[in-house]
Amino acid sequence: MKKKSAYNVAVVGATGAVGTEMLRILEERKFPVDRVLPLASARSAGEDVSFNGQDITVKLLEKDSFAGIDIVLFSAGADTSKEFAPLAVDAGAIVVDNSSAWRMDSHVPLVVPEVNAHALEWHNGIIANPNCSTIQMVVALQPLHKAVCIKRVVVTTFQSVSGTGKDAMEELADQSRKLMSLQESKATVYPHHIAFNCLPHIDDFLPSGYTKEEMKMVNETQKIMEDAMIQVTATTVRVPVFVSHAESINIETKRRLTANEARAILSEAPGVQVYDDPSHQIYPLQIDVAGTDAVYVGRVREDESIANGLNLWVVADNLRKGAALNAVQIAEELIR
Ligand code: A2P
Repeated sequence: MKKKSAYNVAVVGATGAVGTEMLRILEERKFPVDRVLPLASARSAGEDVSFNGQDITVKLLEKDSFAGIDIVLFSAGADTSKEFAPLAVDAGAIVVDNSSAWRMDSHVPLVVPEVNAHALEWHNGIIANPNCSTIQMVVALQPLHKAVCIKRVVVTTFQSVSGTGKDAMEELADQSRKLMSLQESKATVYPHHIAFNCLPHIDDFLPSGYTKEEMKMVNETQKIMEDAMIQVTATTVRVPVFVSHAESINIETKRRLTANEARAILSEAPGVQVYDDPSHQIYPLQIDVAGTDAVYVGRVREDESIANGLNLWVVADNLRKGAALNAVQIAEELIR
């Protein structure tokens, strides 16, 4: 990308749960922005969003929205990305896309900067931001993989409703209020009530019985870690938490690693914070992690049922490291 002192940055989906966070993170990290262009659908075009203390009017996303734009961050769903990302590239911009539209395209790098920033070298205008659950998992697994080679991963996720979007956050709040006051409440965003409930169902079911979300964790992990031999099996669960995803991860490794050795490796790893002292009730919690940037690892234990295995509890803010922060980090790598 041509070096400039400041860049014109468009955010598609600027009024959504992730888009709002993208604007906040561009501001917090002092990304060199000349002009910011917030884009959304007709539902919110004309509203204001705040950036660097200024109110900026949200514009309607249209085919010719990208003239003069250097970088576009997309977070408005896969259909919008499929239609508009190629138009942004044709207009001369580089796209960082948070949707699932391009992630498994062999011409599109799928990047977590702590793991495979080098993949940015071969982009063709679009760079895909991985699924939120995959991002936090690979940030924690890559340093262990480098040390002892991971053969197999068994993961169960506990994913917050913000991963679905702002409608789901409102639904959790509304259902919780109504159920607490013994009023009738309806499920509209999810197929069942999410308040006081866990749903073992994220994204659509496939004929195999797995969900698309579960298969994203399998396929994206192999692509980002550049190792098709890593076996991954996932169960993804939506839980009544507003922000942050937690994951229970079991790994089987080629060589043995003690829990202490794993903690030592993780405490040196980029983007990781070890938070692991059960004797003082210290382990990462979704509420505490919301609004922060690291991937937190706790409950590190040796798996006593196999020769070389570990259990981990991994928590991160899904809107930040799981989405907006990772996208902005990619943009930072691009302009470096
Ligand atoms: P809008 O506010 O106009 O609906 P969330 O993931 O929190 O639901 O947010 C989705 C984001 O994507 C919102 O900013 C939403 O804008 C935007 N969006 C959804 N569909 C489109 C579309 N067809 N064109 C442009 N923006 C869209």
